[in-house]
Amino acid sequence: MASNKLNVLVLHGPNLNLTGFREPDVYGKKPLDEIDRDIHSAAGKLGVEVRILQSNSEGVLIDTIQEHRRWASAIVINPGGLTHYSIALRDALVSVRLPVIEVHLSNVHAREEFRRVSVIAPITIGQIVGFGGHGYVMALNALLNLETEVV
Ligand code: DQA
Repeated sequence: MASNKLNVLVLHGPNLNLTGFREPDVYGKKPLDEIDRDIHSAAGKLGVEVRILQSNSEGVLIDTIQEHRRWASAIVINPGGLTHYSIALRDALVSVRLPVIEVHLSNVHAREEFRRVSVIAPITIGQIVGFGGHGYVMALNALLNLETEVV
């Protein structure tokens, strides 16, 4: 990675703003703002800089990825439903040449057939699925471990 300070862009895709309210048996009862607070607090303890954005718009997610290509040293993304079909989002992630971790609140592999397919996964370091909001914190730790291996 470019600098020894880890700058992580965390992105939540469509409908994740309704986390806590939406299908709580699947996605958990914790609202997104609490999940984001946990990410900020873990990042503070780990000495990682994070910027977090949620958008329901594919275009805004792509613009944000492009705009952060110099600031970010890695991207953690839950693409929501875009996971399963957005070639444009995948292309944007490839274009910025940053390490990517894909996070899902639910275990997408234990659900409907269509959720088992991710067009994003093949261009990531890996997926973290099924651990609810804690998956984002796991992703920060994974990036730090990766960084110590790389540096
Ligand atoms: C999700 C899984 C997706 O299949 C779904 O469309 C979502 C949420 C998850 O976090 O488990 O919106 O990304």
